[in-house]
Amino acid sequence: MFIQRRPATSLFLAYLIVLIPSGLIHLFDSDFAGALTAESVSADIAAGEKLYKSKACMGCHGKAGKKPQLDNYPVLAYQNALYLEEQTKMIRDGQRSSGMSSIMSASVQGLTDEEIKQISLYLASQR
Ligand code: HEC
Repeated sequence: MFIQRRPATSLFLAYLIVLIPSGLIHLFDSDFAGALTAESVSADIAAGEKLYKSKACMGCHGKAGKKPQLDNYPVLAYQNALYLEEQTKMIRDGQRSSGMSSIMSASVQGLTDEEIKQISLYLASQR
């Protein structure tokens, strides 16, 4: 049994080693349908947590987006991920500049769409 399965295993590993770095397959893209979806989402959440902590978000929105610094700053935890993603992009791109949003514009300027998605998934996962 084991011997019969080895060539297939090696082939699969070679496939991963060659194709993932080449970008021909996107195992960690959340659009990738199938069994890897749960893993890719938790990888996104972990990456999002790091970004949230390192990109100054926490200074205003508080630990895990739960305790904003001031009463007119929004709680972000447990908000819909897609909503957070769209609003962050709008603030980054200047489409949303009303209210207090302009004060966070600078801290989101350097973020890519992918990073914003990761931060949003992290915040939405916080209870
Ligand atoms: C200088 C303080 C500050 C920083 C830093 C900051 N924000 Fe904000 N953020 C705000 C304020 C204030 C608002 C409310 C804007 C308004 O009044 O419209 C806001 C709004 C938001 C919203 C929209 C919430 C909603 O309910 O519509 C999201 C999403 C968000 N911030 C994400 C982030 C992320 C992600 C980061 C880090 C990359 C970040 N913010 C950094 C102050 C900040």
